[in-house]
Amino acid sequence: MVAGRPSAVNSSTATILRSVQVNLRETWWIRDVEIPTRVVLAPMAGVSVQAFRRQGRRFGAGLVCSEMVSCAGIEHRNERTLGYLRVARDEHPLAIQIFGSEPRVMADAARMVEAAGADLVDINFGCPVRKVTKTGAGATLLDDPARAQAVVEAVASAVSVPVSVKMRRGLENGSRACLTVGPQLVEAGAATLTLHPRSARQMYTGEADHSLTAELVSLVDVPVIASGDVISRAKAQAVLATTGAAAVMVGRGAQGNPWALREMVDGDAAAPTREEVAAELILFIRETVRELGERRASGFLKKFYGWYLGRGRFPRPFKQELVQLETTEEVVTRLLAAAPGSAEIVERLEAELPDPADEILLDQMPISIYGGG
Ligand SMILES: Cc1cc2nc3c(=O)[nH]c(=O)nc-3n(C[C@H](O)[C@H](O)[C@H](O)COP(=O)(O)O)c2cc1C
Repeated sequence: MVAGRPSAVNSSTATILRSVQVNLRETWWIRDVEIPTRVVLAPMAGVSVQAFRRQGRRFGAGLVCSEMVSCAGIEHRNERTLGYLRVARDEHPLAIQIFGSEPRVMADAARMVEAAGADLVDINFGCPVRKVTKTGAGATLLDDPARAQAVVEAVASAVSVPVSVKMRRGLENGSRACLTVGPQLVEAGAATLTLHPRSARQMYTGEADHSLTAELVSLVDVPVIASGDVISRAKAQAVLATTGAAAVMVGRGAQGNPWALREMVDGDAAAPTREEVAAELILFIRETVRELGERRASGFLKKFYGWYLGRGRFPRPFKQELVQLETTEEVVTRLLAAAPGSAEIVERLEAELPDPADEILLDQMPISIYGGG
C-alpha cells in the first residue's frame, strides 16, 4: 500500500532522486477508501470552497479536503452561520476537516460531517492561528497528547468512515513532537496521518523539513501524507521517494493554478492558454457565487484574481482592474471580453458539472473562515 521507503534521508538522497520515477497516478487506500492518485489537495481556510475542491479533483487530485470547520460552531447552530457546506457527487473522495478540543463535541461534529457525505473525517492538530490555539484546539493539542488521543478516540468511535489527523511537527521550532504524538494517534484510531513538518511558530516561513516525514513513515503502519512546499512533479516525486509517504498534499501551489496538479499527476507541463485560464476563473466565480452568495463571494474571490491572472498570464493592470470592479458579473464580462474563446470552454465545463439536485446540503453549518495548519 505504501510505496517503498528508504530507511533515512541521507547523502544517497541525490542518487535516489535521479533514479526513482514514482508513479503519481497510482491508486492507494485509506482503509476502504480508494484514492485514485497520490496527490491530495490541501485544506485551506478561506480557499477550499467547493469550486476549489471540484476543480482539484478534475485536475487529478485523488483526495480533496474542506477547510477547517469549528466543532463548536456545529454544536451551537445559532452561532454566526457563514454558509452551507455542500458535498457534490464529483468531489468524492472528500475529507471534511473539523477542529476543537472537547472529545464529546468533536464526536458529535464528526457524526454530522459523516452524515453530510464525507468519506473521511479529518482532525486539525496543525492550525497555528491564535484565535484557534487559545481555545486549546489546532496545533496546541500536540503539546497535550492525552487530550489529542482522547479526541481521536472519541471521533473514531463515533463514525464508521476512516479518521485522519493533520498535524505540524510541534509548537516550537525544532520540535519533534509529531514523532511521539503521531504513533499515539494511530493507536487511538487514526487511519492516516498528514504531516506538515513546520512548527506552529514558523507559520509558513522557512521550509518544510520532510526528513521528519520520513521518520514518521518509519514509525507508523498507516499511510502518511506529506504536506509542505510541494509545487511541482519533480518535488512531489522527490518527497515521495525520500520519505516513503503514500501521497503528497498540495496547498499554495494549487491556488489559482490547478494546472500544477495536472503536471504533477500526468507530467503534462503545458502552460494553460489565456482562454483556459479565463474559463477556469469564470467557472470558479460562478460556482462560488452559487455557494456563498454574491455579497460574500465578491470579497472572497478577489485574492483569486491575482492567483489566476498572475504568472505572466495577463498584464498586471488587468488584474488590478478586476479587483476594483463591484460585482462578479462585471468581472466575468471583462474576462470574456479579454479572452473571447473562453466562453465555449466554460460552456463545456458547465455541461460536465453534476446536477445541483445531487448535492447534499447541510443547512446552517458554520464554516470557519479563520484557520491554517
Ligand atoms: C491560506 C491557508 C489556509 C490554510 N488552512 C488550513 C486549514 O484550514 N486546515 C489545515 O489543516 N491546514 C491549513 N493550511 C495548511 C495547508 O493545508 C498546508 O499544510 C500548508 O499550506 C503547507 O502546504 P503548501 O506548502 O503546499 O501550501 C492552510 C494554509 C494556507 C496557506
